[in-house]
Amino acid sequence: MSADITTTEEWAALAAHAEKIRTIHLRDEFAADPERVTRMTAQAADLYVDYSKNLVTDETVRLLVALAGRVALGDRIQAMFRGEHINTSEDRAVLHTALRLPRDASLVVDGQDVVRDVHAVLDQMAAFAERVRSGEWVGHTGQRIRTVVNIGIGGSDLGPVMAYEALAPYRDAGIECRYVSNIDPTDLSVTLADLDPATTMFVIVSKTFSTLETLTNATEARTWLLAGLGGDDAAVAKHFVAVSTNEQRVRDFGIDPANMFGFWDWVGGRYSYDSAVGLSLMLAIGPDGFREMLAGFHAVDEHFRTARLESNVPALLGLLNVWYNNFLGAQTHAVLPYSQLLHRFPAYLQQLTMESNGKSVTRDGQPVSYQTGEVFWGEPGTNGQHAFYQLIHQGTKTVPADFIGFSEPNYDLGDMHDAFMANFFAQTSALAFGRTAEEIEAQGVAADVVPHKVMPGNHPTTSILVPKLTPATLGQLVALYEHIVFTEGTVWGIDSFDQWGVELGKEMAKQLTPLLHGEPGEADPSTATLIARYREQRGR
Ligand code: F6P
Repeated sequence: MSADITTTEEWAALAAHAEKIRTIHLRDEFAADPERVTRMTAQAADLYVDYSKNLVTDETVRLLVALAGRVALGDRIQAMFRGEHINTSEDRAVLHTALRLPRDASLVVDGQDVVRDVHAVLDQMAAFAERVRSGEWVGHTGQRIRTVVNIGIGGSDLGPVMAYEALAPYRDAGIECRYVSNIDPTDLSVTLADLDPATTMFVIVSKTFSTLETLTNATEARTWLLAGLGGDDAAVAKHFVAVSTNEQRVRDFGIDPANMFGFWDWVGGRYSYDSAVGLSLMLAIGPDGFREMLAGFHAVDEHFRTARLESNVPALLGLLNVWYNNFLGAQTHAVLPYSQLLHRFPAYLQQLTMESNGKSVTRDGQPVSYQTGEVFWGEPGTNGQHAFYQLIHQGTKTVPADFIGFSEPNYDLGDMHDAFMANFFAQTSALAFGRTAEEIEAQGVAADVVPHKVMPGNHPTTSILVPKLTPATLGQLVALYEHIVFTEGTVWGIDSFDQWGVELGKEMAKQLTPLLHGEPGEADPSTATLIARYREQRGR
């Protein structure tokens, strides 16, 4: 059994240091140290990261790096990249980094050259994507495919849809993708309402091919397709493809395994959109764009694998998150992309971070005695500014925030991008330095209003400035957060790669379904009463 991290001298040193940090103000730290920014910036591939506006000193960083040493972060990084079974509760390797290894690399895991397997699937995806994109692949009635409907949920949805939205400027084949995830019948109904079955292709994405939401939506989609195309079962082969690790279940569902794109149990769902799970994205942006994205992921992987912890961006940002979560009492973490294209990025990150690190036992099954995963949330700037930033500026909670901005826009109108980014810079500055009562009084504000206008400042932010949103930099950003999650999970000693907590609800939904139809079954008193009312309102 590993020692409780809170009993180590590194933890104690950070706890003592936190008392000092509670009394500092970023205004003073910056005033006293002209070199602060130079020291507290780092670069990972194209990502320029300024963490100087965090509630830290050089000593904080040194102590956090010491904590990382205590949990052997460096060794665990190497173990992950080597393909050791670090997902202990499922006894699996964790190898999303292998999905982006270049073709000439080699990595043998459990006796299998995974790089060869990865590139074989990438080639299969590329060949298929080219056929669909060029119009060589036609539907049952001979028409080319215009719309791709991705049916999946969780990691089989959030990553692909986030990236499809983010890379809108790179869609170049006139193929529109839509994403259906919810078992709420509204989702599929609204998505299909204006589509023509003759020009629609469904990509059914499910690692297990057993997820109720996905299989239910896929079954209804097949019914819709056949109804629209005259009921000929042969149409399915032209309009349905599958992405899964489970060939037998794909076959059982009625999809020809020739139209299946595989991946492996060493890819977690929330770490999978750069595998065949991203097929819809490849159909939209093409194989070259997809490969550029993989190269972006790989560049940050290499940085994470090789950089010293002191300048290792994902490690530093992960350690900063631990600092706020465990020593300064923060409960949440905001992610604020200054890019409308990244409007699904916070939602995507919620699964990545919270399904990974929402755990309360260590890898060896002991209850943790400390806080683990923070609540991640966010919205694109500047919309968030007019919604919840008030609480970050003047509320009572510490909300560390990542600001993600791009120097070059993908779209520009007049001076809009500069106006947009001026907000990015203004917000991080206002959050750090605020405005004092004296400054406000000097503006002639009435004394009784002054306290309401005081901006305390000292609110921590990290600025991530990227040259431009491209497939490559999107890959870099996602890899950055994947490795931040890994760093935090390593410090907390938890398994960031299982998700047992979602199973009970799934089981119970199955158990309760008969009750909704008036059949006998067990339910707690509150739930039984709710179901009774539901049935009454349904007229049953
Ligand atoms: O929410 C639980 C979960 O298992 C996620 O981890 C996963 O991304 C999602 O369900 C979908 O699973 P599958 O790809 O097997 O359908």
